[in-house]
Amino acid sequence: MEKQGVRGPKPRFLVGNILDMASLLSKSTSQDMDSINHDIVDRLLPHFVSWSKSYGKRFIYWNGVEPRMCLTETELIKELLSKYSTISGKSWQQQQGSKHFIGRGLLMANGDDWYHQRHIVAPVFKGDKLKSYAGYMVECTKQMLQSLEKAVENGETEFEIGEHMTRLTADIISRTEFDSNYEKGKQIFHLLTVLQHLCARATRHLCFPGSRFFPSKYNREIKSLKTEVERLLMEIIQSRKDCVEIGRSSSYGNDLLGMLLNEMQKKRSGDGFSLNLQLIMDECKTFFFAGHETTALLLTWTVMLLASNPSWQEKVRAQVKEVCNGGAPSVDHLSKLTLLNMVINESLRLYPPASLLPRMAFEDIKLGDLHIPKGLSIWIPVLAIHHSEEIWGKDVNEFNPDRFATKSFGRAEISSLCSWPKKLCGPSLCSNGGQNYISHVNIKIQLHYL
Ligand code: HEM
Repeated sequence: MEKQGVRGPKPRFLVGNILDMASLLSKSTSQDMDSINHDIVDRLLPHFVSWSKSYGKRFIYWNGVEPRMCLTETELIKELLSKYSTISGKSWQQQQGSKHFIGRGLLMANGDDWYHQRHIVAPVFKGDKLKSYAGYMVECTKQMLQSLEKAVENGETEFEIGEHMTRLTADIISRTEFDSNYEKGKQIFHLLTVLQHLCARATRHLCFPGSRFFPSKYNREIKSLKTEVERLLMEIIQSRKDCVEIGRSSSYGNDLLGMLLNEMQKKRSGDGFSLNLQLIMDECKTFFFAGHETTALLLTWTVMLLASNPSWQEKVRAQVKEVCNGGAPSVDHLSKLTLLNMVINESLRLYPPASLLPRMAFEDIKLGDLHIPKGLSIWIPVLAIHHSEEIWGKDVNEFNPDRFATKSFGRAEISSLCSWPKKLCGPSLCSNGGQNYISHVNIKIQLHYL
C-alpha cells in the first residue's frame, strides 16, 4: 500500500498502534463536555483526526497484528459496498470477537451463508407483519410514558432517558422475535446484554493466540452466560416444537423465531444450506443485538436534539397532530410525517448509532485508483464522514434538519450511506433496509407520543 501512496503511523511489535489510540482517546475524553456541542469527532476519534492530518484521506494503522486502511472517500465507499459486496465481508478477527454473543448469525455471515440467511429472514420484515408490529410499538410506548408520568407525579424531576429507551426497544424486539414467549425473551436479552459487555472487554485487551481457551475466571463467566442464554432459548424452541407435535398448533408461529423454525422444517430435505438449531439461536441473538442498541441510541439522541431545539419540536408536533388527527399513528401515517423524517435523518447524521463500518477484502480488488490486496481490512469511519465540512458545508456541526428537505439525495445520500443503508449501499447493510425500516417505524411511533 505504501507504493500506492497510502501511509500511516509506525506500528509497534505485536500491539501495532493500539496503545497510541488508547492514549489519544483517554486524553480527549478525560473531561466532561461543558455544554451540548455536536462537534464531537476530535473527542471521539482523536486518532483519526491526528492521522488524517498527517497522512491524508487514506491511511493505514495497525490494530495489533491486523493492518486496517481507513477510507473516507464516498465514491470509493459506494463502490466497495455495492460492487464488491460479495467478495468483502467480516474478518475472522471480528467474527471471533462476537462469536460468544451472536455467533454465526446474519450480521457476521459472509458469502453464500449470508445470502441464504438473508432470504430466510426477509419475510419477517414485510407488509402485514410490519403492521402487526406497529401495534406492539404503540402499546409498549404508552406503557413507558405512563411509567414516566407516574414518576413525575411522585416528584422525580430528572431521568436518564437512554435507560428508558433501551428498555423500550428491548421490549419491542422481544415481542417481534418471541411474541407470546416475550417475558422469557426479555430475560434472555438481559443476559445477552451482560454477555455483550463482558465480550467487549476482550477487545480492549490484547488477545494472544489460544488465550480464549485458557480457563480464566473471565472465560468461565462468558461460557456460563452463553450456556444459560442458549438453555433458555432451547426451552422456548422446545415448547413450540411440542405444540406442533401434539397437534395443538399447526405452525411454529408468526414471529421471527416461528418463521425460522418453519423454514428449518421445510428445508429438512435440504438444498445444500442447513438451518440448524444453533443457527436459529444465533439469528435470534443477532437481531436483538443489531436492532436493540441502534434504535435505542437513535431515539435517545433524537429526543435530546428535539429537547434542545424547541422550535423544531413545535413544528414536528404540529405536523404529527395534523397527520394523525390526535389519534394513534398507523404505518400508513408515517410517510406523511416529513418533518419528523428530516429530524431523524439529521439525528442519524450527527450521532450515527453504527459509527464505524468494517470490511475485509476476500480477493484482490480494484477500488478506484487503488489496488486492495486480499486480506486487507478497510475501516469506514461513519462518524467522521457525517461530520465532514467538505461534504456538509460550514454548518456541519449544527442541528439543521432542513438540509434533508429536498428529495434529491445530494448530501442526504451520503448520510444514508451508513445510516439508512437501503438507499445506497447495496444488499448487505441492515438486510436491505428491512430491519432498518422496522426501526424507522418504531422510532416514528415512539416520537409521535413524545
Ligand atoms: C437506527 C437503527 C439502525 C441502524 C442505524 C442500523 C445500522 C446498521 C448497519 C450500518 C449495518 C451494517 C453493519 C455491517 O455490515 O458492518 C446493519 C446491519 C444489520 N442490522 Fe441494522 N441498523 C438499525 C436497526 C436495526 C434493527 C431494528 C434490526 C433488527 C430488528 C437490525 C438488524 C440488522 C441485521 C440483521 C444486520 C445484518 C444485515 C446483513 O448483513 O444483511 N438493524 N445495521
